[in-house]
Amino acid sequence: MEPKNRIEELTDKINHYNTQYYINDISEITDFEFDQLLEELIALEEKHPELKKPESPSQRVGGGITKKFQVVEHATPMLSLGNTYSKDELIEFDNRVRKEIEGHSYTYLCELKFDGVAISIKYENGILNKAVTRGDGTKGDLITNNVKTIKTIPLKVEGKNVPKKFEVRGEIYFPLKEFEKLNAEREDIGEAPFANPRNTASGTLKMQDSSIVASRNLDCNPYFLLGEEISIESQLQGLETLISWGFKVNPSYKICSSIDQVIEFIETWRTKRFDLPMETDGIVIKVNEIKNQTLLGATAKSPRWAIAYKYPSESQNTILKDVQYQVGRTGAITPVANLVPTTIAGTIVKRASLHNANEIKRLDLHIGDTVLVEKGGEIIPKVTEVVLEKRPKNASPIVYPKNCPACGSGLVINEGEANHYCPNWAGCLPQVKGRIEHFVSKNAMDIDSLGSETIEGLINKGLLSDMADLYALDHDRLINLELEVSTDKDQSVKRRLLEKSVQNILKGIEESKSRPFEKVLFALGIRFVGQTTAEVLASHFITLENLMKANPEELEEIHTIGKRIAESVHGYFLEEQNLSIIERLRKAELNFESEVRISDREGPLFGKKVVVSGVFNNFSREGIKDSVRENGGKLVSSISSKTDLVIAGENMGPAKKEKAEKLGIKMIGESEYQKMIEGI
Ligand code: IVH
Repeated sequence: MEPKNRIEELTDKINHYNTQYYINDISEITDFEFDQLLEELIALEEKHPELKKPESPSQRVGGGITKKFQVVEHATPMLSLGNTYSKDELIEFDNRVRKEIEGHSYTYLCELKFDGVAISIKYENGILNKAVTRGDGTKGDLITNNVKTIKTIPLKVEGKNVPKKFEVRGEIYFPLKEFEKLNAEREDIGEAPFANPRNTASGTLKMQDSSIVASRNLDCNPYFLLGEEISIESQLQGLETLISWGFKVNPSYKICSSIDQVIEFIETWRTKRFDLPMETDGIVIKVNEIKNQTLLGATAKSPRWAIAYKYPSESQNTILKDVQYQVGRTGAITPVANLVPTTIAGTIVKRASLHNANEIKRLDLHIGDTVLVEKGGEIIPKVTEVVLEKRPKNASPIVYPKNCPACGSGLVINEGEANHYCPNWAGCLPQVKGRIEHFVSKNAMDIDSLGSETIEGLINKGLLSDMADLYALDHDRLINLELEVSTDKDQSVKRRLLEKSVQNILKGIEESKSRPFEKVLFALGIRFVGQTTAEVLASHFITLENLMKANPEELEEIHTIGKRIAESVHGYFLEEQNLSIIERLRKAELNFESEVRISDREGPLFGKKVVVSGVFNNFSREGIKDSVRENGGKLVSSISSKTDLVIAGENMGPAKKEKAEKLGIKMIGESEYQKMIEGI
């Protein structure tokens, strides 16, 4: 088949499977088959960039970098909504509506108010061609490439009466599950978690690298259809049209024929909204008929035909008893407010997050202050405000400590970061304990017989000072050992280790020796090295020895490794204490080598740094890379004097070719490569 036809066919097919999967919840093909089609399309598009369709699903994976977003004017301003927290005001709103439309009949369409970022998406000839943020309401940022990564937003719209041009408005949000996943990953690598889904969605949409946006799995709830050629008669018809064109409209909307029904709708969702996969903060009430909307008109700021009822945020006033400073495994200090217990949204809250020193300064917190504590979604409660009028006389301000609350070392602040750190890596108990806890955790070495209390007890007994000490524990040392651990209430309890526990602990430790290299690498707890990064490093360098030798530049040559990770990894292996841990772990026979390498030690590319460029006939883009790795080669992304071999496919860029020739690096074509790996 001609490439042009195949590209068209693949584009249509993949877009169809995408809609079925993300909008209609139907899997027509397996993930593997889907990936194969997408891979084939990407390879063809690389070979024939001029044939790439504007609705190509390859844009869903991102990859484009936008240096600076263009500012674009909205054809119709993006207004905001009048807000109310009171039912009386809703009745007033209804009276105003009735008066203004003078005897015409009217209904309301109620929708949830999604807490995200408003977006305007324009289509031309059925193709998504512009996505613009709300900005100041009259102009916003053009973030098309980032919005195209959101799988539920159609790249191409087909169907009955699709006009040449139309615009869809809606709310882009961070699904709560995805938000929690992102924060868990951040905590894994010692980064501060993001505070809330809305701001994170907004920050994500403004990122320059659309492949990061793609990885965060944002979603969108469209709620408006507009345009000169749109001839809908009601808001409801707008939503139904959007649905028929393949948009994922949230099904919670409802027509209400009286304000009483609106109030009923509000009550139904007051608590039910907490079961939704996204954050909502109220209900939007829209006069349904477009004719009536036109009669009512708008002020400069907001339409007169709509209003938002906001649920009061789930917050309570309570009193700040004191501030505690927790020390994480990376040494980062997190201030936590100790509160007089209060009930918010059905749960008792005693503690709330204060983020960092800047936040305490912003709040100007004093001991004994009455503070407003808010709880949203799944996130830990936070102190949002101080009620200054209620501050007791002579209240003393919170002074951020200069020394570590656990070990007394002077705290430091790293450039560009808001957190204070305790630099006492080796001697600070919570850090030592945190690192060992991380080492034994499920996704790392998975030693579930060692709980937090046992670890602390063993540290207190002087049997553990780092993770390598785990492998020196034996039956004699553990049996009948009396462990002393602190409790929440600053007391301590004693516990004796009996035969069964000892056996379980030793068995767990023994079994951990068979965990693969990438798990061991993750377990070491190198800052910024999360699970995914550990996998990338393990498969790229194959052995710990190679990784330890890599300088930051070599590390940065790997696609997903940035400067910050590169420096952290390199720095880790310069520390004497780390080298000693590694040496002892090596003696304990942990896996410091990827399994691939063990079977392919003799591969024809063993030890060679290889650059792959262009398009291949018998390999997909990822396929050729896998083949290089399987044959013992080490992939590097750009040609330098250290490169050993370039495998040149069709369409290899002339600049790369010239560079390789200039540096005298061996260059081979696809067939020669195949002969090489087949040993011919
Ligand atoms: S209608 C002029 N419907 O709330 C009409 N907005 O305060 C405004 N929002 O900027 C848009 N869910 O970001 C509408 N179902 C919904 C909404 C919604 C969330 C946001 C939107 C808008 C803000 C208005």
